[in-house]
Amino acid sequence: MSTFINELPKVELHLHIEGTLEPEMVFALARRNGITLDYADEGALKAAYDFKDLQSFLDVYYQGMQVLLTEQDFFDMTWAYLERAHAERVRHTEIFFDPQAHTDRGVPLAAVIGGIHRALEQARQQWGLSSRLIMSFLRHLSEESAFETLHHAEPFRHQLSGIGLDSSEKGNPPSKFVRVYAAAREQGFRLVAHAGEEGPPQYIHDALDLLKVERIDHGVAAVHDRHLMERLARERIPLTVCPLSNLKLRVVEHMGEHPMLKLLHAGLCVTVNSDDPAYFGGYMNANYQALQQGLGATDGELLQMALNSVEACWLSPEEKAVLT
Ligand code: ADE
Ligand code: ZN
Repeated sequence: MSTFINELPKVELHLHIEGTLEPEMVFALARRNGITLDYADEGALKAAYDFKDLQSFLDVYYQGMQVLLTEQDFFDMTWAYLERAHAERVRHTEIFFDPQAHTDRGVPLAAVIGGIHRALEQARQQWGLSSRLIMSFLRHLSEESAFETLHHAEPFRHQLSGIGLDSSEKGNPPSKFVRVYAAAREQGFRLVAHAGEEGPPQYIHDALDLLKVERIDHGVAAVHDRHLMERLARERIPLTVCPLSNLKLRVVEHMGEHPMLKLLHAGLCVTVNSDDPAYFGGYMNANYQALQQGLGATDGELLQMALNSVEACWLSPEEKAVLT
């Protein structure tokens, strides 16, 4: 690992907290909660991490998170992530969670948000590691389910900064969620959405024009649409790109063909993130390293991406000034 990457202060903007469940913790929580998994041991679970696309990953991801039942489980998962992030000099992190994946199993939203939030607060006090929490709707579920979730989250409004949209992209376009995004906007939520990961560039246009998001999660499909690239550059719409995720989910076949540098040099506000690090082979440093070693990104280019993350994050100008 290069010293430059190790020592670079980092901001993470695209991290699914359920995607930080390492196999060891999946089994530890399963034992603690008396849950029997479909996999015999950690090795068998890891062997399933050979994904061919987004859906084949999601199938394993939703199974893994079934071990999460109590507030303490959500605390322990989040704390383990924050310890790693702190060790990699992450100074600020904006975290997604998937409420429906838990409430649909009967886990109370208070346990989910309570446990995550308690860990975030402890990291802020202990290390000055700041954070924001983003509640993400599952796009394979209905608009009605998203509305219910928004309603159930009202008591926790002050702990949530934004709304996101994730899960199976193809066939679940942004247009499906126009009304629930409008309602969230009325409530003062900041808005982001996954778009252009496996889906077409049109989904990025639609996330911007129909959902009125301020940031695009992934967005790498923009490279196929010159006018969209020009717009994203002109409006400085941040893309939260996840290099190792794109490799593991076969959005690109080799890191050498990843569009990150092309987007950067076209003037887009591209940022580096880890998405689901327990499943994709690494946390923030590993993602920067993949760009350096697989794509030949220079320290100057990596620094620009890190500065883009500061620009794109939801801290105040005064808080951002401390980071740079
Ligand atoms: N949920 C967790 N990780 C995701 C990803 N990379 N794309 C869509 N939904 C997700
Ligand atoms: Zn994601």
